[in-house]
Amino acid sequence: MTDGAETYDPILEGRGASDYERYLRTDELLALQKEPAEMAHRDELLFQVVHQSSELWLKLAGFELEEATAATTQGRITDAVRCLRRANLAVAYVTDQLEMLDLMSPWEYHPVRLALGHGSGFDSPGWNHMREVMTSLGRAFETAVADRGLDLVDLYRRGRVHDDLYQLAEQLSELDGRVAVWRYRHLVTVHRAIGGGAVGTQGTPVEQLERLIHHRAFPRLWQVRDELTRLADEGGVDDAG
Ligand code: HEM
Repeated sequence: MTDGAETYDPILEGRGASDYERYLRTDELLALQKEPAEMAHRDELLFQVVHQSSELWLKLAGFELEEATAATTQGRITDAVRCLRRANLAVAYVTDQLEMLDLMSPWEYHPVRLALGHGSGFDSPGWNHMREVMTSLGRAFETAVADRGLDLVDLYRRGRVHDDLYQLAEQLSELDGRVAVWRYRHLVTVHRAIGGGAVGTQGTPVEQLERLIHHRAFPRLWQVRDELTRLADEGGVDDAG
């Protein structure tokens, strides 16, 4: 403070002229993309920004899913639902960002692709971590349902009585669905960029990505819908609620 006027000089440790830059570490963050002189093609900036920001959103998704797993294990189901909402939105953002890649010309993408070496989405740390945590979360959810003396059919038939677990089941279904939507959207981007008959940078035929669209991390949450439809067709809708 000088002469009654406040100063806003930085008070945080770190690099950068302001606390904004120091807190967000913008010096380091903005140095993570190639300089124009290093680029094989100017679209490398677009490509790196989409991928790097996807990794950040996936990092957040994985972090929230870890907390959702711990919360489910400890019976804090409402907390788990809250974390899952964030993870689901993060996956939606990662899906939306794919549209930016469709603004690259397929011909001009090739110099970018050559610069990737063996770089492949199969090695995405954010995606792989999220997928691992989904497996643990699925197990924690099944235990929580069993601990209440329920199976999934009971839970869905009496969702209003067990609203917390029902909301969790629906957020998990949402996550599984959003992963499938990401996979389909990603496949369309891949078709636009390199075609459906191409082979990836790690030798995977693009066709294999099509098969992954049908994979589900929580298959029981999809099978239960078939069971509910069968029960309803057999006339069992009276005891709903
Ligand atoms: C022009 C853009 C893109 C192309 C041409 C492309 C191409 C491919 C190909 C060919 C594969 C199969 C694996 C291999 O490389 O052999 C793959 C997998 C994958 N890619 Fe991409 N990709 C693009 C953008 C992205 C973006 C923005 C992300 C964001 C994280 C991403 C994440 C992944 C992931 C996670 C996989 C594994 C698929 C799965 O588990 O379902 N890709 N990609």
